[in-house]
Amino acid sequence: MRLWKLPVFLAGLVPLLWLAWGVYQEDLGPNPVEYLTHATGDWALRFLLITLAITPLRRLAGWRKPMLVRRMLGLFSFFYASLHLIIWLWLDREWYWAGMLEDVLKRPYITVGLLAFIMLLALALTSNAFSMRHLGKNWQRLHRLAYGAAALGILHYIWLVKADLLLPLIYLAIFGLLMLLRLPGARRGG
Ligand code: HEM
Repeated sequence: MRLWKLPVFLAGLVPLLWLAWGVYQEDLGPNPVEYLTHATGDWALRFLLITLAITPLRRLAGWRKPMLVRRMLGLFSFFYASLHLIIWLWLDREWYWAGMLEDVLKRPYITVGLLAFIMLLALALTSNAFSMRHLGKNWQRLHRLAYGAAALGILHYIWLVKADLLLPLIYLAIFGLLMLLRLPGARRGG
């Protein structure tokens, strides 16, 4: 079990170390805050999509081992989303609450990003054994929010992008495929 968890944990830290190194070297391009916002947003979404791919891998290919790290991968998504939000609150908006509220109300891509974050927060808070035991069947229902968070995260990206839609559309295609694989006909039991 450890054999799976440690390498995945270390791999999850690579983007963070890479960004920290860039900050230390002052090598994040002409707009470091924008760079950090984009990189953390991207990694939040990537980890979320990887997490959502674990169950189809088990159902279709019979790979059970990745299930051991599903929770950790989901928590990495939450971790990078939290960094993304903190960078925005602190380095971008400089804790200017009135401006942030205006952004949340007037910029749909921020509203949608906040909703996605709240979903990830609910998932992270209930990702422990205690919540699983106490919520019973409702735990699975609640954790379907992961699909909602991914959909809103992608919508957030599509909405904010000005020119190059390629990457958000690639994320959308991956998400669409993962949704298709959830259909009963695509299942191989389980
Ligand atoms: C309150 C919550 C959030 C806020 C305020 C927020 C804010 C932002 C901002 C300001 C940008 C850059 C916009 C620009 O440069 O024009 C951005 C980009 C992005 N955000 Fe968020 N975001 C939030 C939540 C999320 C969440 C939960 C996810 C993922 C699940 C996410 C994924 C992304 C992605 C993928 C990008 C674009 C990255 C790129 O351009 O490469 N965001 N967000």
